[in-house]
Amino acid sequence: MENFVFSNETKIVFGRGTEALVGVETAAWGKKVLLHYGGGHIVRTGLKAVVEKSLQEAGVEYIELGGVQPNPRLSLVREGIDLIRKHNIEFILAVGGGSVIDSAKAMALGALYDGDVWDFYIGKAEPKKAMPVGVVLTIPAAGSEASPSSVITNEDGWLKRSVDNVILRPRFAIMNPELTFTLPPYQTACGVADMMAHIMERYFTNTREVDLTDQLCEAALRSIIKYAPRALEEPENYDVRANIMWAGTIAHNDLLGTGRVGDWASHTIEHEISGIYDLAHGAGLSIVFPAWMKYVYKHDIQRFVQFAARVWGVDPDYHNPERTVFEGIRRLEEFFKRMGLPVRLSDADIPGDRIEEMAAKCTDNGTRTVGRFVELGQEDVLNIYKLSL
Ligand code: NZQ
Ligand code: ZN
Repeated sequence: MENFVFSNETKIVFGRGTEALVGVETAAWGKKVLLHYGGGHIVRTGLKAVVEKSLQEAGVEYIELGGVQPNPRLSLVREGIDLIRKHNIEFILAVGGGSVIDSAKAMALGALYDGDVWDFYIGKAEPKKAMPVGVVLTIPAAGSEASPSSVITNEDGWLKRSVDNVILRPRFAIMNPELTFTLPPYQTACGVADMMAHIMERYFTNTREVDLTDQLCEAALRSIIKYAPRALEEPENYDVRANIMWAGTIAHNDLLGTGRVGDWASHTIEHEISGIYDLAHGAGLSIVFPAWMKYVYKHDIQRFVQFAARVWGVDPDYHNPERTVFEGIRRLEEFFKRMGLPVRLSDADIPGDRIEEMAAKCTDNGTRTVGRFVELGQEDVLNIYKLSL
């Protein structure tokens, strides 16, 4: 097992009605707040009114910035930074999903930085300080509510890039599973694919003797596999939604990655797809992850056999371990399909004519590799895109 530091300060306030506590939680951090949200589902469901009432009752002043799009854009981040400076904002409250939270985190960095916020996303600047951010989560998916990451798309070149630093972890996350009852099936499914991917990125590791975290990963995956189809069938079943919601946080708050080196190639490969085609990140992952598995499994067949057996209940075939590996991958694909997700680019109506360009962008024209389990160069990434056609 590797050395590690695990510190996750995000205060989780979980359960029915907890959105009404947002005013009190926010007031502990600031009295002048930017209320940040997306395309407006929170207006339609009435959540925005509840949040505003709670802020007012706690004596918190706020200005609003809505309009975050899925795959959040740099231009809105810049607009938010200007607003924050102009109004002496002390705290950013993100009400929504990963896109809103990531946009808020970007503003939190940019508002305290003299240069251009994009510098952090291209490695030109290291995050040193960030404004505090709080969250009311409405979709279990990205895990951004407790993660140290922010992923932003720069419209200039459609580059989707991330920054990771512990100072970006939100100060609190309010999580009421009832708020997820309104999620359309496709968004529910995309969220599920993303959280499964976060676990699998950590699971496929070269670190030896990490059975504790292997088994934590497997348990989290099995629970998601059990509850996710029920979330589609019974969208208003509180306990089903609650298990999925908590799984989404645990998948990406770094507990499952303690003491092990994760891979993250599939995420990097996926970001080129959602960056260019504006596909939901989870749908990109349900396409890329099985293709990645088919390409790299020979690197550690035993780990893939373990995955197939312990997560998918495949009976290991000791004479032909590859058969076990492929049965595990097949069950993963079948699960994604059952959830209504694409498993090929063509399923998502994405043509294959830009895969060379994507492989080049993903590896900075072959100057860097992606992935830690297996280090992949430009040619490898291209082969994975080919497997996903
Ligand atoms: O825009 P609104 O009106 O809020 O609608 C959203 C949006 O259209 C809708 N939605 C959210 N909650 C809802 C709801 N609709 C009805 N009822 C509800 N309760 O769902 C749509 C998708 O929202 P979005 O925030 O984009 O989803 P998600 O949480 O999956 O976030 C995706 C973004 O997070 C990034 C992805 O790359 C992508 O840009 N990621 C962030 C990570 C991180 N910060 O740690 C890690 C991930 O790997 C990921 O890359
Ligand atoms: Zn993800």
